[in-house]
Amino acid sequence: MSLIVNGEAVAPPSDPRVSLLDHLREALHLTGTKKGCNQGACGACTVLVDGERILSCLALAVQYEGRSVTTIEGLAGEDGLHPLQQAFIEHDGFQCGYCTPGQICSAIGMAAEAGRGVPSHVSADLTAAVALTREEVQERMSGNLCRCGAHNGIVDAIRATVAAEWAA
Ligand code: FES
Ligand code: FES
Repeated sequence: MSLIVNGEAVAPPSDPRVSLLDHLREALHLTGTKKGCNQGACGACTVLVDGERILSCLALAVQYEGRSVTTIEGLAGEDGLHPLQQAFIEHDGFQCGYCTPGQICSAIGMAAEAGRGVPSHVSADLTAAVALTREEVQERMSGNLCRCGAHNGIVDAIRATVAAEWAA
């Protein structure tokens, strides 16, 4: 069975030990997804699988046969950049850009989690609708590190776009 990557069916690796991250980068040449720590600590490798954010360095590619994987290369549409990509430019959400693809994929998945009412460590009321305050966005994006220290711009960009519906 194939993986679906950015809408196209692609063959899985013949070696079942290959991570999804390495398969994307080395076999499919989708190098937008970055390898930072390769051990689940930095978030640079975040991609979306059926709309949920995952760390592709910790995932085996063969686990995702039949699933729909979206990388940063798959976010822009015919009309241009995804609104969150544009917001990262407008809010100075990056310097070197290494963490940026993971930040953007993670934020899209994070907003969907909020839409499903998933609470975070800083949510005061576990039963109330999620309100994506600045503190909530910071907490929910804490798995995505930015060594350039662009976090303020990153949070601004997220709150201006994908989190706006649940912002408070
Ligand atoms: S490269 Fe996957 S979390 Fe750092
Ligand atoms: S923009 Fe350089 S690590 Fe985030």
